This record gives sequence, C-alpha cells and structure tokens, in this order.
Amino acid sequence: MINPMSLEGKRVIITGASSGIGRAIAIFLSRLGAQVICSGRNVDRLNETCSQLEGNQHVIAPFDLQETEEIGKWFNSLVEEHGRLHGLVHSAGVQYTLPLQLQKPQKFEELIKTNTESALFLARAFQKNSMKDKKGGSIVFISSVMGRVSLPGISVYSLSKSALEGLARSLALELAPRNIRVSCVAPAYIRTPMLDKLMKKWNETQIRQLIDRHPLGLGEMEDVANSVAFLLSDAARWITGITLVVDGGYTAQ
Ligand SMILES: NC(=O)c1ccc[n+]([C@@H]2O[C@H](COP(=O)([O-])OP(=O)(O)OC[C@H]3O[C@@H](n4cnc5c(N)ncnc54)[C@H](OP(=O)(O)O)[C@@H]3O)[C@@H](O)[C@H]2O)c1
Repeated sequence: MINPMSLEGKRVIITGASSGIGRAIAIFLSRLGAQVICSGRNVDRLNETCSQLEGNQHVIAPFDLQETEEIGKWFNSLVEEHGRLHGLVHSAGVQYTLPLQLQKPQKFEELIKTNTESALFLARAFQKNSMKDKKGGSIVFISSVMGRVSLPGISVYSLSKSALEGLARSLALELAPRNIRVSCVAPAYIRTPMLDKLMKKWNETQIRQLIDRHPLGLGEMEDVANSVAFLLSDAARWITGITLVVDGGYTAQ
C-alpha cells in the first residue's frame, strides 16, 4: 500500500521538541517513520519526549537558540554525527503580553532571537547540509495566526510571526533551485499544557469566549503535527512558500 505521508528514511530536526506542539510533532513524525533529532534547552524534558517516540533511532540535541552565532557550528556537528538531514521544523517559540509603554529593547531582542532570527540561521545551516546532493529537503516554521491578525499587548510576538512568514516566502524562492521547500504552519489556540494552565486562571465566560472564537473549537497539538508532516512529506513536493493556516476557522470570521 502507498502512504504518501510516509517519512521512512528521512531524518528531521525539531526545535522546541521538549514541550507542547514540538513534542507532539516529534511523536507523530516518529510514527510516520522519521528519525527525529529533538532539540530544546531542558534535557529532562527532551529525554521525556524521546521516550515517547516510536522506534529507538532518535536522539536529543540540547541547544539554546539565543546563541544565534553558534547555530551553524552546532548544526554542522549534528550532521557529522548523525548524517544528512532531510527536514527542519522550527517550533521553539516564546510569547509575552506587554503593553507598548513597557516594551524594552532587551526583551524585544530575546523574543526575536528565539522566534525569528534563529529560523534564518537554522535554514542557513540546513541549506549547507544539503549541498552535497541535489535531493533537497523541507523546512517548516511554526508561525501563528497572530502573525496575520492580532490582539492588544502582543505586538512583538505578532511581529515575530509575520516576519517568519516573510522569511519563509523569500527563502522558498532562494532555495527552490536546490529543491529545498520552505513553508509555515500558522495555528490558532491549541490545547497545550501551557494553555490549560492559563485557562485555570480564567472564569467560565473568558474560556467560553475563547472557544467560541474558533468555529471548530480549540485545536489539538495533533492538528498541527498533521500539517507539519504533510509539508515534510513527498505529498507536498510541489508546495513551497505558503503558510498553512490551521485555526479551526479563527481567521475566517
Ligand atoms: N500553543 C498555542 O496555542 C500556539 C498557537 C500558535 C502558535 N504557537 C507556536 O507554536 C510553537 C510551540 O508552542 P507551544 O505552545 O508548544 O510552546 P511551549 O510548550 O512553551 O514550548 C516552547 C518550546 O520552545 C523551546 N524554547 C524556548 N526558548 C528557547 C531557546 N532559547 N532555545 C531553545 N529552545 C527554546 C522550549 O524549550 P525548553 O523549554 O527546553 O527551553 C520549548 O520546547 C511556538 O512557536 C508558538 O509560538 C503556539
């Protein structure tokens, strides 16, 4: 039987794999046959992710993405140790709510480094890793609907995700001759442990309002993982430079 979503024989690195959506992506890709390299900062939680993956060929690769100048060296060492990578998923991300008058350059820089700047240098290293053959690969950045619509107080987060989508479009054009596809997945609110914790502080009306903003209800982490797997797979071989909005209808209103 043909499975166009199969990732057998593909080696994929996932940032943000120690938690939430990145972890769910790692689990799902392993079920589709990929060898997964799980990255994040927290080693215990990376090991926890690894223990939930199907198969035993997976590894962890702890790294702090604030160290943008070191990304190339770190990535090269992974390629040397584990072999050529076929996919890159950048799911690591941070978010804070802060009104304009409290914005500070340092906080701005920290968020941009993790969410956006690191994406550029991860893509650069990924391109280098695939130069020896013409087989290309696929890069997926996890954006957010907040890169297209927004809410008060999340200006820097929104900016970081809009920029990520612009970055993906330009890289898609630049890397197409190398057969490297670059796209984004933009989720709305997803039930992650983080959101569950946040919702515990809300009253019933606030929770109902959030759910009602999604015509199909809140998303599950698996909904994002499905879309990422599709974009990594050969089923998406003619798709690049897009943002796949996975939002239960949030932005259709
Ligand atoms: N949850 C949602 O509703 C939602 C909606 C739309 C988009 N998104 C996007 O989806 C992605 C994942 O979100 P999530 O909800 O799964 O968040 P999460 O559970 O808070 O996970 C964030 C991940 O980012 C990693 N990370 C943060 N700073 C890092 C750094 N400096 N270096 C390396 N790794 C770092 C964390 O690793 P360590 O803890 O190990 O450092 C963790 O694995 C983010 O890009 C987010 O913007 C989420």
